[in-house]
Amino acid sequence: MNLADLNEVAQAMVAPGKGILAADESSPTITKRFNAIGVTSTDESRRDYREMMFRAADAMTKYISGVILYDETIWQNAKDGTPLIKLIEQAGAIPGIKVDEGTQPLPACPGELVTVGLDRLAERLKKYYAHGARFAKWRAVIDINTAGRIPSMTAIGVNAHALGRYAALCQAAQIVPIVEPEVLMDGDHDIDRCFEVTTRVLNVTFQELRKQRVALEGMILKPNMAVPGKKSGKNASVEEVAERTVRMLKACVPAAVPGIAFLSGGQSDEEATAHLDAMNRIDNLPWRLTFSYGRALQAAAQKAWSGKSENVAAGQRALIHRARMNSLASKGEWRADLEEKAA
Ligand code: 13P
Repeated sequence: MNLADLNEVAQAMVAPGKGILAADESSPTITKRFNAIGVTSTDESRRDYREMMFRAADAMTKYISGVILYDETIWQNAKDGTPLIKLIEQAGAIPGIKVDEGTQPLPACPGELVTVGLDRLAERLKKYYAHGARFAKWRAVIDINTAGRIPSMTAIGVNAHALGRYAALCQAAQIVPIVEPEVLMDGDHDIDRCFEVTTRVLNVTFQELRKQRVALEGMILKPNMAVPGKKSGKNASVEEVAERTVRMLKACVPAAVPGIAFLSGGQSDEEATAHLDAMNRIDNLPWRLTFSYGRALQAAAQKAWSGKSENVAAGQRALIHRARMNSLASKGEWRADLEEKAA
């Protein structure tokens, strides 16, 4: 492992004014998104959609530091035969790859999941590196369900252990791991409970990373923010979410980690941007804070595109706009009126 090189890639992933495009939806997930816009999900339509994004030059060269790909996409070619991964590299962005293989029910823990995919991961990482991937992603999913006494320490422990195993294997393969322990925002819990559970999850995750000798300078953390559950009927102000999230991260995430790139997790496009912006207005943060959004970067672009070749330019405009808004938010320079001007 060459830590200086890993650190250089990690720094580039969170370079000022840039963030990550999470375009790594599995085929079943992108099919769900396509169903919502009336597009049939085929190898070709998935390729066309992703090609549209990777050719949105303004987004890719100015605001996007790296793109997380799904296995299918990393081997696909654009319509003219150029490998999609080359489009990303030519724009000056870094290709990354989702390497977890989804979740399975966790035995003896009803309602809880464990992320799988460690078997043969070392060999897969070698192939991805040879093909150009310089970072990877593994997502652990932790649900909150107070009635079901969820999450259990068992679920937190096994998922953190897997994140540690994955991160260590990535670094041995000279690939920067994005460590993503996602506490879901679907439940009826309040912001305090989200804060408390996420704190526990982050602490156990960093314990595992240390135990498994992961070099913190060569990784990126991808956490959720501290927000009330969607079914709680409660709202928190933008400032409260920002203050709580930063307090939580300061207590759990060592300053040696170069950057934190948030998931959007089901927040609206503008909420995800406003929260990131408010956090970046707080002084003296020990790490760079940016975005690694899937839905909050792509939803508007998907709608504008709707699977029609004549809408490619409109889809690209929508992606460029969201990428620019989030770029400003990553510097604490976003303003709500910039959204209206563009609309
Ligand atoms: P969302 O921003 O849609 O939550 O997706 C980010 C991601 O990569 C989840 O693993």
